[in-house]
Amino acid sequence: MRPKVLVSRRLPPAALEIIARHCDVDHNEPNRPLPRAELLARLQGCRGLVCLLTDAVDDEVLGTPGLKIVSNVAVGFNNIDVEAATRRRVLATNTPGVLDDTTADLAFALLMATARRIVEADRFLRSGRWEGWDLLQFLGYDIHHKTLGICGLGRIGKGVARRAAGFDMRLLYTDVQRAPEAVERELGVTFAEKDALLREADFVTVHVPLFAETRHYIGDRELGLMKPTAILVNAARGPIVDEAALVQALQRKQIAGAGLDVYEEEPKVHPGLLGMDNVVILPHIASASIETRTRMATMAAENVVAGILGRRPPNLLNPEALSAQ
Ligand code: DGY
Repeated sequence: MRPKVLVSRRLPPAALEIIARHCDVDHNEPNRPLPRAELLARLQGCRGLVCLLTDAVDDEVLGTPGLKIVSNVAVGFNNIDVEAATRRRVLATNTPGVLDDTTADLAFALLMATARRIVEADRFLRSGRWEGWDLLQFLGYDIHHKTLGICGLGRIGKGVARRAAGFDMRLLYTDVQRAPEAVERELGVTFAEKDALLREADFVTVHVPLFAETRHYIGDRELGLMKPTAILVNAARGPIVDEAALVQALQRKQIAGAGLDVYEEEPKVHPGLLGMDNVVILPHIASASIETRTRMATMAAENVVAGILGRRPPNLLNPEALSAQ
């Protein structure tokens, strides 16, 4: 009998074909998130689950009898209880590497769009209110020669640094560990403690992963350290920024603006953000290029097939579970 895999949301055909070569596929094609009870029911008898970051893969899901592997179509895996997966000897995988440049592109686009008021100006023109060139209309902030503070110099943070170099920006970064000197030199980045970075940067972009310790990494205190002309960019995970504190800081003009792709309780967005012109808000699309999303899906397919066939999945998050299988 062929093993069965549940695919919790719509995947591109190229990815489904990879899985279908070896397994029977239960594909949630309508693309609405599976209600929890339905997810649990359809998972019965499955060896693998291909899921998105909107699926909460907790101990109960991982306890499905016979489940061997959970393959997330995302690099972030805060939706999966990896500790429980390891305890239950279920393999967990993600899709690292392929989306770094696409996400860095978007983070930089958010920075530029917010600084130069691009979305606001576009809305204005479409509304028919433009009466011609105006010297003092839609004045934003320069990007070139400004200071960019990168919180988290991982693969995406480094990608943002490379893009910023083209704008002759001064680059500060902060991280739990300082990067090797050669990396600092290659990227032209200077290490700064978090508070010093927040005080000095004209733009702050966050690229730390979401863990218990990084929840509200940017909160009331941190926003209070930033310049009144500073712009915050978050294309990482919503809970890294305290959204209510951000709204207050924007209302009090403690900072000048924000470019956001992620939110604390997606798909909800703090209502305070919706009416602000100095905020650019996107629906979590940082990795959404045709090439990258297709590659993420095929990677996830390759991961689930490898796990089911008893091979080591290329992007295994919990090798301890493999040795225990
Ligand atoms: C991820 O992969 O973690 C993103 O947030 C979705 O691209």
